[in-house]
Amino acid sequence: MSDAPPITVLADQAAYAEAVQLAVDASAAYYGDGTSSLDDDAYDRLVRGIAAYEQAHPDQVLPHSPTGKVAGGAVVGDVPHTVPMLSLDNVFSAEQLADWAASLERRLGRPVTAFSVEPKLDGLAISARYRAGRLTQLVTRGDGVAGEDVSHAIGTIVGLPGRLAEPVTVEIRGEVMMTTEQFEQACAKRTAHDGTTFANPRSAAAGTLRAQDRPYVCELTFFGYAALPSPGDESDLAVRLRELPHSQIMAWVAEQGVRTTAETPVAGIVATSLEQVRERIEQIAAARPELAFGIDGIVIKCDLAEDQAQAGFSSRAPRWATAYKLPATEKITKLVAVEWNTGRTGVIAPRAVLEPVELDGSVVTYATLHNVADITRRGLMLGDSVVVYKAGDVIPRVEAPVVHLRTGDEQPIAFPQVCPTCGDAIDTSQERWRCVRGRACRAIASISYAVGRDQLDIAGLADNRIQQMLDAGLITDFADLFYLTREQLLALERMGEVSTDNLLAAIEHAKSQPLSRVFCALGVRGTGRSMSRRIARHFGTMEAIRAAGAEAIQAVEGIGPEKAPVVVAELAELSDLIDKLVAAGVTMTEPGATPSTSGGEQADAAEAAAALPLAGMSVVVTGAMTGPLETLSRNQMNELIERAGGKASSSVSARTSLLVAGDKAGSKRAKAETLGVRILTPEEFAELVALVPTPA
Ligand code: IVH
Repeated sequence: MSDAPPITVLADQAAYAEAVQLAVDASAAYYGDGTSSLDDDAYDRLVRGIAAYEQAHPDQVLPHSPTGKVAGGAVVGDVPHTVPMLSLDNVFSAEQLADWAASLERRLGRPVTAFSVEPKLDGLAISARYRAGRLTQLVTRGDGVAGEDVSHAIGTIVGLPGRLAEPVTVEIRGEVMMTTEQFEQACAKRTAHDGTTFANPRSAAAGTLRAQDRPYVCELTFFGYAALPSPGDESDLAVRLRELPHSQIMAWVAEQGVRTTAETPVAGIVATSLEQVRERIEQIAAARPELAFGIDGIVIKCDLAEDQAQAGFSSRAPRWATAYKLPATEKITKLVAVEWNTGRTGVIAPRAVLEPVELDGSVVTYATLHNVADITRRGLMLGDSVVVYKAGDVIPRVEAPVVHLRTGDEQPIAFPQVCPTCGDAIDTSQERWRCVRGRACRAIASISYAVGRDQLDIAGLADNRIQQMLDAGLITDFADLFYLTREQLLALERMGEVSTDNLLAAIEHAKSQPLSRVFCALGVRGTGRSMSRRIARHFGTMEAIRAAGAEAIQAVEGIGPEKAPVVVAELAELSDLIDKLVAAGVTMTEPGATPSTSGGEQADAAEAAAALPLAGMSVVVTGAMTGPLETLSRNQMNELIERAGGKASSSVSARTSLLVAGDKAGSKRAKAETLGVRILTPEEFAELVALVPTPA
């Protein structure tokens, strides 16, 4: 667990007044449209600095100070809440958590009976009012006393049903958010509409919840975390909701058809000691990068109603709960420079160089900056303070400049006039700029990729050797390798008889690589190793892939309407190269693939697939392989899994069927154990898939 981040130290009354104004503005923006001029860490530091100053100078406390106020005093909405929607106090370290628990114990005069430990969902609090089982009204938190009516969003929120299982009158409180998938869909819809995207899932959810007349609809997700009876209601249910432990109330909420975290890898649990609480905090923090939705901490609550009642409330938050904050996934840092690089396929992409900043467990120095149009749309300048977002495996990206932090010294970003690699012209007709020479511009990079271990696997072809052949005019692309003669190779400097024969043998062997690897070697934009295997298995032959139009390509899992036309266009561009490969006798079929043609054959194929040992299973490999699998690369393991009918995945989740754990398996093994996923040694796994034929 991390140490508490430092606070902002305020030197005098003027610095204090300025800090209060900054916090009030940031809070209004955060609870207003979900944007903010401060990242979460900076806001927390600032408010703690303000609180420290106020403690030392109680006579100077300003009336609009955000301390002790729900939502930092930001006021929105006019629908009164039946019971105030409060905030949570925060802790930032294991020590502070222990302090909180100790102060609770003092107040109760005994240890806390049980804690409930659950994720702190990173979205917006909402109150869903059900009358006789029907969802009648949705209200935002607002200032905690009154919120805004957003009932227009009913029907667009997954997990918040229009009708409960029982015809009861109850208020369900929880968090409205976007899952990563919903966020990506929302960004795609918005880009198609006006060329902009949302900054992060939280502000996308905030904007979407309030939006009333958008021409497109974005889906949201709800997770419930509380159920309350109306004040004065003395029905059986109302009495139960006042008396049951929190964990049982949440089980009831789930039975009503409302989504809770119960079905996620970070489900709420009951812990009976602080040690167990800490363990669960570690587990939830470890699972965070792979979750399908954002969390910004862990909420620890007294589970029993009587413990809660005895602990009571302060003016802005319950004393019976606290939030253990996790490091932010979004921070503000400086844009130092923009670099332009030509990729393997000739695309010229900008990359942001940042003042190093720690985000989600790693130090970020570079971030994606999509393309020129995107930079222009966002109005980015060199020297800008920028919001950088990174969560989980996502490549960090620059979201937006913080315009009001500009000093006047910012400089415009210069766009390249010529290709930064070869100096030739740039084709700017598409949003992604490309060198007019396309792949040829970075021939060495695309050839080196094609002959790599996971593609054609031609050993003995280092970059300097490829460069030598390019310079000698022996090759222009990797297909030319298959036409090299012994004499040509021997004529090259530093090329002896033995290396020549070895290289020729390796090239000959490459002709028998399966279609999936040959296709991967082409380096079609938007298709990596696993996508290439899916395409090869789906179509079975290169001929079928080349004959497919955008619609047919979309039948492959993971290829959507945006990627499909790119793949088709790329294949057309690579047409001469593919012809050369075919003529050289390179394999153009996928062993074991049963392309979908006629209905009868399809049924046969489905039957054959279902009989495979890993049919329908999602398999993850971790650690070093041993025994019969010792020499297999990770890619070869993934190929084996897929030949055996399984799906290879890189991260463990509740959907994982099997983990192959070799030597020195680390966090993935721990996570699989937590989730109860079946774990096999490499030797056991080899036995399980022993019957699967290997291609020649
Ligand atoms: S309990 C009075 N449980 O965090 C108790 N809140 O910073 C307050 N939140 O307003 C709510 N996940 O919007 C609770 N599992 C969870 C939560 C959660 C996220 C939000 C909620 C609250 C805010 C306080």
